[in-house]
Amino acid sequence: MKKILITGGAGFIGSHVVRLFVNKYTDYHIFNLDVLTYAGNLENIKDIEKKPNYTFLKADINNANEIDTLFDTHQFDDVIHLAAESHVDRSITDPLAFIQTNVLGTVNLLNSAKRIWKNNLSSHLFYHVSTDEVYGSLHDGGYFLETTPYDPQSPYSASKAASDHFVRAYYNTYKIPVVVSNCSNNYGQNQFPEKLIPLFINNILNKKPLPVYGKGENVRDWLYVVDHARAIDVVFHKGKVGETYNIGGFNEWKNLDLIKVLCKVMDQKLNRTQGESEKLITYVTDRAGHDLRYAIDANKIMKELGWEPSLQFEEGLNITVDWYLNNKNWLENVTSGAYLKYYDEQYSVN
Ligand code: NAD
Ligand code: DAU
Repeated sequence: MKKILITGGAGFIGSHVVRLFVNKYTDYHIFNLDVLTYAGNLENIKDIEKKPNYTFLKADINNANEIDTLFDTHQFDDVIHLAAESHVDRSITDPLAFIQTNVLGTVNLLNSAKRIWKNNLSSHLFYHVSTDEVYGSLHDGGYFLETTPYDPQSPYSASKAASDHFVRAYYNTYKIPVVVSNCSNNYGQNQFPEKLIPLFINNILNKKPLPVYGKGENVRDWLYVVDHARAIDVVFHKGKVGETYNIGGFNEWKNLDLIKVLCKVMDQKLNRTQGESEKLITYVTDRAGHDLRYAIDANKIMKELGWEPSLQFEEGLNITVDWYLNNKNWLENVTSGAYLKYYDEQYSVN
């Protein structure tokens, strides 16, 4: 039985990846390693926790000894690495936490894999899940290709870029078989409500102001999270060792346009007067160093590996809004306690 370590599987994207692998590959044993930060929530994977091919390991990738011991005990065949600090605004207030987890934590995993796999390297794979933000910001049209030079602009994207470089350096230097994918903005169920779409759903629900950074002109390319999980499955099984695959939805939205669509959908679903939620839009101080536009060219994964997004954005947004409206307890649980302190600090100056 193949033993696959998935890190960060209690988080947003990781939980969808764990679910897909546990249900689809009953001949694999899936180990979900997560330290359960504020963003990690075992509720996200409650439906699969009792499956015989699933084990949860509460551990910190920053603790090299602990990670080494787990590799010794379980002899993982492959790694799919998603654990990270993932929110740009938090990286602006606390960059060191991002360097620690995203860079050093990744190197700890690489070191354990290198040690355990040294006698038969070619039968293993270290899959590193990364972001399109490593390519920087697009100003004059065009798309991010796999060959676009790295130009990270925030502490978050700098830490992810550094981790990508280490993964490739371990391939080049120690011949660890690696593959990297860089994905655009994900949305969908179980996303922590610090990110744009779930934050605004929660605020609309509670008739709170919708804090639009700057003029709302920044552009993001949105992909439904389950389609990202499907892409990770395809890259893991069919991707070429040493290669990079960009993943995106060819689905660009200016923030303000997306927010207006979301307001409309929410008004409909909550039986509110059309236009009511839009009135909550409040322009606030821009994010420091705010990247203007991200846009992925996903042709390589589509042509070489046969992946494509399954959902149109409107459909995905509908499913997402319905999920949050039907899971108000989940929202209430994750927005109590420490989150309230974060929220007050993050949005207090405006
Ligand atoms: P998330 O913040 O929702 O989840 C991160 C998970 O990692 C949490 O469960 C957390 O507990 C865990 N974790 C954090 N530090 C850890 C540590 N030291 N040890 C063990 N576990 C730890 O993040 P997400 O949005 O699901 O992103 C997952 C990955 O995908 C990240 O690597 C991120 O950079 C990347 N990514 C995210 C997006 C997006 O739009 N969210 C897009 C492209 C790539
Ligand atoms: O592109 C992939 C990246 O997408 C991932 O690597 C990151 O982990 C993920 O967090 C996301 O980064 P963004 O910064 O693009 O996502 P966020 O949801 O924080 O913001 C989306 C846009 O909305 C961005 O232009 C900032 C803006 N925004 C965000 C928040 C939280 C606001 O206008 N107001 C807000 O309150």
